[in-house]
Amino acid sequence: MASQIWTEKYRPQNFEEVKGQKEIIDRIKSLVENKNIPHLLFSGPAGTGKTTTALIIAKKLHKDNWRNNFLELNASDARGIDTIRNQVKDFAKTMGIQAEESPKIILLDEADALTKEAQQALRRTMETYASSCRFILSCNFPSKIIDPIKSRCAIFQFKPLNEGAIEEIITNIANKEELNLEEETIKILFKQCNGDVRQLQNILQSTSSVTKNINQEAVSGFVSKIEAKEVEEILTLAIKNKFLEARKILLDLMYLRGLSGTEIVKQIQKEIMNLSIDDEKKLSIIDKCGDIEFRLVEGSDDYIQLESLLAYICLKTK
Ligand SMILES: Nc1ncnc2c1ncn2[C@@H]1O[C@H](COP(=O)(O)OP(=O)(O)OP(=O)(O)O)[C@@H](O)[C@H]1O
Ligand SMILES: [Mg+2]
Repeated sequence: MASQIWTEKYRPQNFEEVKGQKEIIDRIKSLVENKNIPHLLFSGPAGTGKTTTALIIAKKLHKDNWRNNFLELNASDARGIDTIRNQVKDFAKTMGIQAEESPKIILLDEADALTKEAQQALRRTMETYASSCRFILSCNFPSKIIDPIKSRCAIFQFKPLNEGAIEEIITNIANKEELNLEEETIKILFKQCNGDVRQLQNILQSTSSVTKNINQEAVSGFVSKIEAKEVEEILTLAIKNKFLEARKILLDLMYLRGLSGTEIVKQIQKEIMNLSIDDEKKLSIIDKCGDIEFRLVEGSDDYIQLESLLAYICLKTK
């Protein structure tokens, strides 16, 4: 299975292997052991273990028969809430042959993609099938989930993995794949992946297909396309009040290099601390970065938001 993709190859198969989410895993373990599973709401960033944990729950409850008792749906599939309702109905019906002790598990990914009306319909579906099925709703932004659903779920907030947890995962993979790993590379990988294990595993697998020596040079081809020095240049021009010149580099990064607004805001946010401006101004710009990032994930236009951030930096440092 040399060609197997690492995100699947190294997907944890039991609770102990899920790193960096100890409190969540402890609570869920005890719910599973007591066979007392409420509906669950998993929120948190990508690649932190939400789907993985849902799969482990189904495996623990249903052992070898888990595939027949687990349904995964994606709410952002354009077909909408009616399709979800029908699939849930069919899935709930197929039980029956012998009454299962444990509820069937329905994982609904990207639940925050549903409109408020669709969420109301989902809430009714959750109630209709509550005797036989438990829902695990997975989302990136719990604020987008309506209160009547939240109040029916136990809520778990997954965190980006910290450096220690990421290091454990890297070391494990390096041992199994016989990679030579330099200590400093762990730091680079950690910074790059932002606690997202899927991204980490993808960088490692891509790098290792070129060389077993995982050092700074080897990973550099697979880490961010955005250079710190480009962002530094934008910021330096901005604080010199050269808005148009800064804007040109910014637009080139977006138009020509295809970088997303979010990638650029994150890099700007990291670079602010290195600027030679008052601390108070730094704080206010960092605060603004947070606002802009939020607007971007809520769907605002990348160009308008980034130009607005740039204008803010120019005005603030005048
Ligand atoms: N906490 C963790 N410990 C160990 N490995 C993890 C962890 N979280 C994620 N992984 C690895 O990353 C891969 C992707 O994780 P998973 O599918 O659980 O992410 P997710 O939180 O559901 O993300 P998304 O929001 O994108 O659906 C897994 O297959 C596994 O290899
Ligand atoms: Mg997932």
